[in-house]
Amino acid sequence: MPNVPPHQDFKHKVSAKAYRTIERAGLVWVYMGARAEPPPLPGFEVLDVPDDEIGATFIQRNCNYLQALEGDIDTSHFGFLHAGHVEPDELDEVDPIYHTVAIRAPEYHIADTAWGTTYAGYRAAGPGRTSWRFGNFLFPFWSQVPNGEFGRHLQVRGWVPLDDEHTMYCVVWWKRGLSAMNERDPAFKDGTPVGGMGRRNDFLPNTTDWLGRWRLAANAGNDWRLDRAAQHDNAIYSGIDTIHLQDQAVTESMGAILDHSFEHLAPSDQMITRTRRRLLLAARALRDNRVPPPGAENVEVFRDARGGYFVGDAGKGWQDAYAGQLAGALRPAPTALPAAT
Ligand SMILES: [Fe+2]
Repeated sequence: MPNVPPHQDFKHKVSAKAYRTIERAGLVWVYMGARAEPPPLPGFEVLDVPDDEIGATFIQRNCNYLQALEGDIDTSHFGFLHAGHVEPDELDEVDPIYHTVAIRAPEYHIADTAWGTTYAGYRAAGPGRTSWRFGNFLFPFWSQVPNGEFGRHLQVRGWVPLDDEHTMYCVVWWKRGLSAMNERDPAFKDGTPVGGMGRRNDFLPNTTDWLGRWRLAANAGNDWRLDRAAQHDNAIYSGIDTIHLQDQAVTESMGAILDHSFEHLAPSDQMITRTRRRLLLAARALRDNRVPPPGAENVEVFRDARGGYFVGDAGKGWQDAYAGQLAGALRPAPTALPAAT
C-alpha cells in the first residue's frame, strides 16, 4: 500500500487480523502478542473491584504517548503549573495540596521496580512528620499518580499510542476509593473554589474518523481557551481551566514530538530520565535477546503498585514508609479474571 499514512496502515492491519479481546471495566482489552494462549489482564489492583464500581474516562491528546506520560511522573509541576496561584495560608492544613504549595521544590527518591519505576516526592510536614507523594510508571504505557489518599487510591492511567503523534489517555479508577477531599473540586479554607482546578472538560462531538474520538474542545487551535485576565489577576496561574487541560496544553504546545536536544534536565527530572532508561533497556533486551518486557508474561508484577499521598513519621525510609502504608491499605481481594477469547 504505497503512500499510506502510518495510522491508516495500522488500521488496515487491525482489520486484517482477528485479535483476541476481553471486556472489563467498560473497556475492550486487546491482546496483540504472539502467544497462542493470551496472558491474563495486567494485575492492577483496580481491576479487582466489581465493574460497576469502576469509572473510566477517555481523552485524546495530540502528542507522542511518552511525552504525555512524562507529565504524570513529574510531581513538582503541580506546585506551579496547577497551583502556582495558591498560597498555603489560604488552605486547610489537611488539604491534599497544602504541603505541595508550602514547599514547591520537593526532594525525591527513585528506584526501578518489577513493574517499571517508582518515585517518592517528599517534604517536611511539621515537627517529626514527612509528606510523601508516591507515583509509578508501569510497563508499557501506564502511570499511577499521587493525587489520591494512598490507602484507598486504586487507579491506573493509560497513555495508549494511536500513532507517533496522537495518544488516547484512559484513566480507570475505583469510584468508592475517592475520599470527600478528592470528590469535590479543590477549595480555599473559606470555601471558594480554587481557580483552574475544575475537573469537567468539554468535548467535541465524536466522529467516525480514525482520530475522531474523545477530542477536547479546547486545543491548540484556540490556545486551549487560555484566559489572559485570569492569568493576570492570579486567579489561575496558567490562565487555563482544569488540571487535565493544563497538562494537555504544556505537553501539546511543545510540539507533538519534542526535540530533546534542547532539553535542560534538572534534579526534578530524575524520575523521567530513569523511566526513559528503563524503557530503552527493556526494548533492547526484547530486540536482542527476546526478553519479554516487565508484565508482558508475569502480570502479577503490577499487584503492589500504588500511587497516592500520605503524611508519616519523619526518619522512616521511603520504601519502608510505602510498604507500611500498603500493608494498612484497603485492598480488594484479587479476582480470577477470565482469559481473552
Ligand atoms: Fe499535571
